[in-house]
Amino acid sequence: MKIEELLERVRNWDKLAIAKLITMAEEGVEPQLDVRRRSHVIGITGPPGSGKSTLIYTMARKIPQDKRVAILTIDPSSPFTGGSFMGNRIRMQELTSKPNIYIRSMATRGIRGGLNYATVAAINILEYAGADYIFLETVGAGQSDTDVKYVADTILVLVPPLSGDEIQALKSGLMEIGDIYVVSKSDNPASESTYRDLMAMVDMVREIKGETWRPTVLKVSGLYGYGVDELLKVIDDRFGELMKNGRLDNTLRSRRTLEMRLYAYDLLEKSLNEAKDLESKVINGELSPRDAARRLLNYYDKPRLDHVAVAIKNIDEAARKFRELGLRVSDPIVVEEQGVKVVMVMLSNTKIELLEPLGPETTVAKFIEKRGEGIHHIAIEVDDINKFINIAKNAGLTITGEPSRGAEGIVTFIHPKSLHGILLELVQHE
Ligand code: CO
Repeated sequence: MKIEELLERVRNWDKLAIAKLITMAEEGVEPQLDVRRRSHVIGITGPPGSGKSTLIYTMARKIPQDKRVAILTIDPSSPFTGGSFMGNRIRMQELTSKPNIYIRSMATRGIRGGLNYATVAAINILEYAGADYIFLETVGAGQSDTDVKYVADTILVLVPPLSGDEIQALKSGLMEIGDIYVVSKSDNPASESTYRDLMAMVDMVREIKGETWRPTVLKVSGLYGYGVDELLKVIDDRFGELMKNGRLDNTLRSRRTLEMRLYAYDLLEKSLNEAKDLESKVINGELSPRDAARRLLNYYDKPRLDHVAVAIKNIDEAARKFRELGLRVSDPIVVEEQGVKVVMVMLSNTKIELLEPLGPETTVAKFIEKRGEGIHHIAIEVDDINKFINIAKNAGLTITGEPSRGAEGIVTFIHPKSLHGILLELVQHE
């Protein structure tokens, strides 16, 4: 199936197509989606056993059938993933059979815990598919609760009936992130005091943080459906407010930065797993642990060697030889202002720049005439070219001219007469 066709099916809420696109995202494919805000992303968190899945199930059933509902869970113990009790599984199957409801469990994987980049990609895909509600069920602890703030428009914290002491223990984490607090299992007699404790706690936290939005506190029974209609109304009202205030775009921005970070963690983990030769160099003392880490991340302090440039009569022939050496060689580009044709030989952390003169009157042609083929200049990359020029001038060196825009960024040169015959190019990448 062509990607255009797949995307079209996704937009039509074809659940198989949605599943396929999410699987592609998990495998590292980055679908180019024009995501416009339209979904209410609701993070649902709370301690294990607070009844998150049951509540999501009950809400999803009560939402009108003409609304598209997506449920993403990253909780491995969630019945949505097929675990847990038999009764739950039957109810989940009932949800899956409804055409307007899409359910997917996502892996929490990696060194970091919390959300995975693919979960963020799945949210993008579901919003693109036109979901009205995206429920994101998290494990209710640690990193995933921190992450969920970046992707959810609304965070719903589910609290089971607890003693006063247990509520106190919740304060530090869950009590600070919620927009809506829900006492679950309100059929349990202990829920009344939990509700009062939560109200007091929410007021206290809000005063400390000086916030205007007052989190709502509600009692529901996911199992028997008490209070769920009211909860859905609170959720919809909040969505209306967020839309009116333009706050949905804030979450889209933070969603995008979170995806970048999470994908970076994934890449980092892959490089760590493949860094066996760096590890052996660290073990036998060839590299210090920190140097190895810098090399792993392709991170080099500046100034660093940017490239070495060589003046050559026939660039195509030279390029062919470097290719035969197994090196990666760029296509030639013509830089009229400098009178050269340029080919780059790519090395892991630097380049060799091959320069062929465009005509006999060019500086590179004159260089070859006078000195033969050979190293023409050495380029170093600096953070701030103007700052570096001042340092060079103070050291009594001659700069050839004002910095100007070259092929690799903003460049100027230190004259070879003032530096022992070395033409030193300064590059500040843009
Ligand atoms: Co150069």
